[in-house]
Amino acid sequence: MLPLLLSLVLFPLCLLYLLHRRARAKKPSSATAHKLPLPPGSMGWPYIGETFQLYSSNPNTFFSLKQKKYGRIFKTHILGCPCVMVSSPEAARLVLVTQAQMFKPTYPASKERLLGPKAIFFQQGNYHARLRRIVLRAFMPDAIRGKVAGIEAVAIQALHSWDGRNINTFQEMKTYAFHVALLSIFGKDEISCIDELKQCYYTLEKGYNSMPINLPGTLFSNAMKARKQLGRIVADILSYRRQKKAEADDLLGSLMEAKQGLTDDQIADNIIGVIFASRDTTASVLTWIVKYLGENPSILQAVTEEQEEIMRDKEMGEGEKYLTWADTKRMPMTSKVIQETMRVASILSFTFREAVEDVEYEGYLIPKGWKVLPLFRNIHHSPDNFTDPEKFDPSRFEVAPKANTFMPFGNGTHSCPGNELAKLEMLVLLHHLTTKYRWSMSGSESGIQYGPFVLPLHGLPMRFSRKT
Ligand code: HEM
Ligand SMILES: *[C@@H]1O[C@H](CO)[C@@H](O)[C@H](O)[C@H]1NC(C)=O
Ligand SMILES: *[C@@H]1O[C@H](CO)[C@@H](O)[C@H](O)[C@H]1NC(C)=O
Repeated sequence: MLPLLLSLVLFPLCLLYLLHRRARAKKPSSATAHKLPLPPGSMGWPYIGETFQLYSSNPNTFFSLKQKKYGRIFKTHILGCPCVMVSSPEAARLVLVTQAQMFKPTYPASKERLLGPKAIFFQQGNYHARLRRIVLRAFMPDAIRGKVAGIEAVAIQALHSWDGRNINTFQEMKTYAFHVALLSIFGKDEISCIDELKQCYYTLEKGYNSMPINLPGTLFSNAMKARKQLGRIVADILSYRRQKKAEADDLLGSLMEAKQGLTDDQIADNIIGVIFASRDTTASVLTWIVKYLGENPSILQAVTEEQEEIMRDKEMGEGEKYLTWADTKRMPMTSKVIQETMRVASILSFTFREAVEDVEYEGYLIPKGWKVLPLFRNIHHSPDNFTDPEKFDPSRFEVAPKANTFMPFGNGTHSCPGNELAKLEMLVLLHHLTTKYRWSMSGSESGIQYGPFVLPLHGLPMRFSRKT
């Protein structure tokens, strides 16, 4: 899957690049840029580049081998795309934070069309900044603290539905994350078309990771149809909201505010984009947490004790029986488990940017038009920044990590605006999971699958049952 995903991402981009390069070849860049060397590394055969090496095994092995050989900045060639991969905290900071304007986000046109070309990820400049303010406002702590009870109800219902069954942990976590996303986007109303929205979204998702061939009957063309249908559903919800004239503190309310001046298409693209960004990411991290807790009984014990104490306080106390925002701030052990899981599993191994002009870095030239990939996973697994990096050890987060050595949510202008919600929904689920359930692997195989996210094999088949 990862190879497929990568090739789908890179292939159209690279064709474009090759075409453009011809046109630009006559325009020499500045004299100094010409004197700078390119970063070390090998480009492999022209066009095919080092694609096979990358795809023949775990992509992370490819990155680590390259890093050992060439250091923390190296060039390579994937599917005709010249790339510079960087894996030092300093370089990641340059690309994502301090010189972010020189490195634009880059996605293939087919993905943009499926999600919606006006969605936040693809933007730069003023329109991006405007969208980001709107999205951040809907997901910052003050906006989501009132949603804890709603999220808790979703978590209780999810766990109840797993009781006594063999489940695919990742699939179930996806459903959970989907319901939380819908709650934070649409609030509690608009339930009538939620099932239809879900169906369309599933069809969209299937096409997202398929070949972008828009012929009748292909997954891609079904996905394009589902995307149109999703646009109509969101339009219906919009008109319903407009009739009701109610103020709402969810993402939809934030996007719809008149002063934001967004069109209905812009709103729909961003709603679908946020569902996309929030679901598989959160679900993969939760799946890895279940796995690591299962493999580390003493850590599971510590998390369970922390959560039981909160549960006891609620049962004995006079106050609120529901979990509150304040309760979620009393979960330091569980929070460290979440952090350490995001470090070890590094579900987004890297992200993509493209240099919008020639850039000099540490005496090397990063030419305009080249892809630049900050390798989060290599940074998170660097022995210089994390001792014994392959070991799952939440206690390492008793000391705050140094700047730009731990970036599960990225950094800078495109960093994850949903990170508070993601942490909240993981804590809430873990509270009920550890206090009320036990679980064991129901499959015999253990292993890892790659793509689009790094996941335990087969989505981690598990059997959950209520503690007695
Ligand atoms: C544990 C779960 C999650 C992880 C690990 C994660 C990680 C990330 C990362 C690394 C980026 C930056 C990508 C880049 O710089 O190219 C990002 C962007 C983004 N994330 Fe998340 N995310 C998670 C959950 C969520 C949730 C729950 C939401 C929605 C509420 C969300 C919404 C977004 C959006 C909209 C962007 C694009 C921001 C922009 O381009 O300005 N994410 N996420
Ligand atoms: C992390 O490790 C890298 C590679 O050795 C090093 O260049 C960097 O200074 C370290 N960063 C911090 C903040 O310790
Ligand atoms: C993001 O970059 C800024 C500036 O270098 C730094 O202060 C901050 O700690 C970084 N964030 C993370 C999560 O590393």
